[in-house]
Amino acid sequence: MEENVIASVSKPTILKLGGSVITIKGRPFTPNKKAIIRLAEEIARSNVNSLIIVHGGGSFGHPIAKQYEINRGYKDPSQIIGFSKTHQAMTTLNRLIINALIDQDIPAIEIQPSSCIITKSGRIQIMEQRPFTKLLRMGFVPVLYGDAVPDSETGFAILSGDQLISTLAMRLNADRIIVGADVDGICTADPKTDSSAKLICHISLSELKKLLPKIGKAKAPDVTGGMVGKIVELIPAIERKIPTIIVNATKPNNVYKALKNENVVGTIINKGGNVAKSN
Ligand code: IPE
Repeated sequence: MEENVIASVSKPTILKLGGSVITIKGRPFTPNKKAIIRLAEEIARSNVNSLIIVHGGGSFGHPIAKQYEINRGYKDPSQIIGFSKTHQAMTTLNRLIINALIDQDIPAIEIQPSSCIITKSGRIQIMEQRPFTKLLRMGFVPVLYGDAVPDSETGFAILSGDQLISTLAMRLNADRIIVGADVDGICTADPKTDSSAKLICHISLSELKKLLPKIGKAKAPDVTGGMVGKIVELIPAIERKIPTIIVNATKPNNVYKALKNENVVGTIINKGGNVAKSN
């Protein structure tokens, strides 16, 4: 397989840890503790300075958000407790991530999206970023997550970790985005249903847009649109020339290698580039 590398500079790196990596997706409220500890160790070993981590919901956030239809906005008072429970599930998962990072001496600090972000019809409208950018400059590692957030049009909404990484990357002029997923990267077709699917190592934005209809939808309850939804969210950041790499974070050392700018199997997406290559 061809391998990938992204050049490093001192601007922040934004790392997403997918919910399907850090939780067992079919089993509600079940963390993948082994993966969480391994990833914390990989992040510590990489010793990247200026790092923001964003994690997904997996089997913590999605089933409860779906049950109460939080992503459809406020329709009925019975959803109010569902908003609290969705947020509670995310903070429970966040605590596990923060604990694992601090155990590795990483100065991780929770940043609660529902306290600093308001969306408008599901899109980030207001984000108070000063507290966590200050902390970032001091050497802390802010850890955010997909969350149930207040919404100025619909009452509340689900903010995905993917919209968050894209917005953070643009607002903070990030060096790069690393997406730790449960697949090797973007393939020529859905690898879960099509055995002829091949991994694409580099893809330009225009090629990616053409490919999107062929990429599979999520099977587990996913209120934020599965793989296609994730990639669509990344597009605005890629348009701003922020290089983005998707790696399989279920496989040991991939996140470490991506953080260290070492060769790693995955998909690099960038704005320019020519025709999509596959291997
Ligand atoms: C979802 O975040 C958050 C909630 C459902 C509350 P993401 O959409 O980023 O989560 P994953 O990575 O797909 O699990």
